[in-house]
Amino acid sequence: MPEANQRMQHIEVPGTRQFANRVAEFPDAVDLTLGQPDFETPRPIREAAIDAINTKSMKYSHNTGLLELRTAIADYYKDRFGATYDPQGEILVTVGGSEGIDGVLRAILDPGDEVIVPAPTYLGYEPIIELSGGVTRFVDTTDTGLIATPELIESNITNRTKAVLLNYPTNPTGVTYTKAQMDALVEVFRKHDIFIITDEIYGENTLEGEHISLAGYQEIKEKVLVISGLSKSHGMTGWRIGHVAGHRSIMEEVTAVHLYNTICASIPSQYAAIEALRNQLNIPKEMNQKYIERRDYIYDRLTHMGLDVSKPTGAFYIFPSVKKYETDSFRFATDLLETVQLAVVPGRSFSAFGEGHIRLSFACSMEELKEAADRLEKYIGMLESR
Ligand SMILES: Cc1ncc(COP(=O)(O)O)c(C=O)c1O
Repeated sequence: MPEANQRMQHIEVPGTRQFANRVAEFPDAVDLTLGQPDFETPRPIREAAIDAINTKSMKYSHNTGLLELRTAIADYYKDRFGATYDPQGEILVTVGGSEGIDGVLRAILDPGDEVIVPAPTYLGYEPIIELSGGVTRFVDTTDTGLIATPELIESNITNRTKAVLLNYPTNPTGVTYTKAQMDALVEVFRKHDIFIITDEIYGENTLEGEHISLAGYQEIKEKVLVISGLSKSHGMTGWRIGHVAGHRSIMEEVTAVHLYNTICASIPSQYAAIEALRNQLNIPKEMNQKYIERRDYIYDRLTHMGLDVSKPTGAFYIFPSVKKYETDSFRFATDLLETVQLAVVPGRSFSAFGEGHIRLSFACSMEELKEAADRLEKYIGMLESR
């Protein structure tokens, strides 16, 4: 039998997928494993795509995306963060944030290059780093409030470091960075000749204060590659629209990867994205109001249960520690599912540094969240009386 390449042998089916298969066995389960907004794409965004299908050319666009969309993205960065990106050469429209992650990593990594990834972290980075020949260097943030500090980053930089990959607001912890924290990190980034990849897909879902984009630090623009998109901000996961913004010196290479694997993003989706960015920037704010209500509710319930948990300041996830009951998060999540039919994601899915935690998504109705909290409380009560 012919075999897949050597690198594939180290790529595992993600823990979340294995676990999702188990969840399907429990039809009455309350499912808090969700990684996408429960809100549907707003009507005007859909209408814009339908209108485009009926009236515009549906042939390939420019490889980097429709100029109208790239201009809308550049204007967004200018208005929100005072950042200047030229739509001609510094903005690339991708197939979701995912394709942006793939394109950026493949464009910059040579075999053996290290990428520093503060963890617990999104499970989509490590496989792409490895497939690109790179080495993932997870950095433990569990003792520093789930954020990367300048000391943590600096002490992990070696002569093989090619990039630091940040994601904030963070999946799975819901933590984000203040201006002071980001300023301090930028001081480190300024000193080192490495790329800073920043996945800000949850940037619009900042629940406390303002999102501090690394795009706003134009003095290090040559090093920064911003990945974002509309999947989470506008309930558009199925449209597959994201983007990369960066200095033209490196965007040429990122675009070359995209050109060969994708040609261009879907045209109806690109028109939908123009509407989202031009006329629907209030949508994430409306969603955030709901997320804040749910976040406050679930945070109160979890702390009342005596679980150690940080209050999320972004995204729609909360990441309590269950170590006092069980250090093996897969075992905890499996037993929770089998005993009270509550599905959550085991923390180990987000690197070894997520072990002992579970991720709950509050991208669900308040009723589901209440039912989930009741089931978790019941389960913990059972563990305590065991
Ligand atoms: C941190 C992070 N980055 C990227 C993605 C992928 O986004 P997209 O659906 O736009 O490809 C996700 C999806 O869950 C995510 O959590």
